[in-house]
Amino acid sequence: MAVERTLSIIKPDAVQKNAIGAILGRFEAAGLRVIATKMLYLSQEDAGGFYAVHKARPFYGELCAFMSSGPVLVSVLEGEGAILKNRDLMGATNPKDAAPGTIRADFADSIDANAVHGSDSAETAAWEISYFFSQREIFSR
Ligand code: TYD
Repeated sequence: MAVERTLSIIKPDAVQKNAIGAILGRFEAAGLRVIATKMLYLSQEDAGGFYAVHKARPFYGELCAFMSSGPVLVSVLEGEGAILKNRDLMGATNPKDAAPGTIRADFADSIDANAVHGSDSAETAAWEISYFFSQREIFSR
């Protein structure tokens, strides 16, 4: 399987719950490496740009308000099949549908405050990583 990179965001609800370490630990235990990370307090504009693909969706305004409601931890994860592996670790978007033992099953409260973001394809991963990180901030092996 190819080594990939993916963007992870630990969202404001999970940061507020003091779950940064627990969530990063799950990535590492699954064989993913944190090759870049930083804490940010997104503005509404930052969040809106990141989620621009959802601009026409009814939840866009609330999503941007939520993502800028407190600090987040953005990270680049690297490893074999990292994009799908991270999505599997996260679980379904709605925590009610998330499989037991997934991050969203254990830490998310609702479909909008759902603890984590993860890129859903190689194309979006490349774009999302470049949205937050310069090459100088990424430390691959
Ligand atoms: P989406 O890309 O569909 O999910 P995922 O984060 O699993 O890739 O949606 C992006 C975010 O938008 C999602 O994490 C939470 C929010 N959202 C809502 O608030 N309500 C909804 O009905 C949906 C589908 C998403």
